[in-house]
Amino acid sequence: MQNLDDRFPAISDLAAAAKCRIPHFAWEYLDSGTTDDVAMRANRTALDAVRLVPRFLKGDQSPDLTCTLFGQEYGAPIGMAPVGLTGLMWPGAEAMLADTARRGRIPYCLSTVAAMTPEEVGPAAGDYGWFQLYPPRDPELRRDVLARAWESGMKVLALTVDIPAPSRRERQRRAGLSIQAGVSRQMLSHIAVRPRWALATARNGKATLATIVKYAGTTDLEGLRRFFTERFIHNPDLSYVEALRQDWPGALVVKGILSAEDALEVVERGADGVWVSNHGGRQFDAAPPAIEALPRVVEALAGRAPVIFDSGIRTGLDIARALALGADFCFAGRPFLYGVAAAGQAGADQALHILRDDLDNAMRQFGAETLAELRRPGGIAP
Ligand code: FNR
Repeated sequence: MQNLDDRFPAISDLAAAAKCRIPHFAWEYLDSGTTDDVAMRANRTALDAVRLVPRFLKGDQSPDLTCTLFGQEYGAPIGMAPVGLTGLMWPGAEAMLADTARRGRIPYCLSTVAAMTPEEVGPAAGDYGWFQLYPPRDPELRRDVLARAWESGMKVLALTVDIPAPSRRERQRRAGLSIQAGVSRQMLSHIAVRPRWALATARNGKATLATIVKYAGTTDLEGLRRFFTERFIHNPDLSYVEALRQDWPGALVVKGILSAEDALEVVERGADGVWVSNHGGRQFDAAPPAIEALPRVVEALAGRAPVIFDSGIRTGLDIARALALGADFCFAGRPFLYGVAAAGQAGADQALHILRDDLDNAMRQFGAETLAELRRPGGIAP
């Protein structure tokens, strides 16, 4: 039996295995962008185009990947981005990912619309839990969700603002996935092919939007969807950032920023950090690649708040690229889900191992012993 590192030396190997192992609708949910997948592909093209100029003659080096963000020390500048319906890709995936994150000393950010609750995931994440918020309309409901996340040990809150309206997500529709009703129908159709997966996931599927079940008073998918649509805001305004600043005792990050103007405004209203992202190309097919938006945000903020980056990261070299362009920390979404769908807990561990090991290697090739040295002048090829 080959070891995992030889079977899955790259994230693309985990993705290929995941595609064979999970049903088509779950794969399409995980892997797709929106419209023609232009923004998703552009994230990759733009990252590939960032060239770093190596320096040599520095003697032997051993890179230090550790860093501190919002007062917490992390083992590497990479975290697990929030992914809705995570348990749809693999039963219990949220807890597995949180466990990998805690052991690897990296953040795990639980989505508001995951299939497990903060109470279930918080202990698995230990000191490394973050919570992503889709904003409830009602302040009471908001405070209750926030209290649950905080009491479950999650110390950083990410408010997602880049879904002003649902995106069309044509590939998901073609594959028959919709939160409306399709999830359970598709699961049933899968039972004949992979019964254990389907049964476990169907149990989990009942609890999709698990955090919200408490308020909706139903586990029926259509009822949950209606509750979510009516009681949550798609497009919060700046006063919502201020309200969160009042309600949340920990660090507050705004996720989904692509313009310098929005970055400055949210920091003005009390955000502690700005998360540059185009949602992995899943929302607006004309959005710029997040890596192109990053330097403009970094320049505008000029050190006033840390800048987090995601969208397209598939290698440790990509993390080095983002840090060279001024990011303080990176996240990845799909890579960890590919891992868990390919090989369960061991696959999640392998995804993290690939990203860390490749970042270590990229730093050696580039000639940087610390993460700060990745930003050296002249490091980016013109
Ligand atoms: C997401 N993303 C996301 N973001 C968020 O704030 N809340 C959510 O519930 C979700 N759900 C979600 C589901 C799936 C299947 C994907 C792939 C992504 C976006 C996610 O947090 C992150 O921004 C992107 O995944 C980053 O791009 P990469 O790393 O997947 O290329």
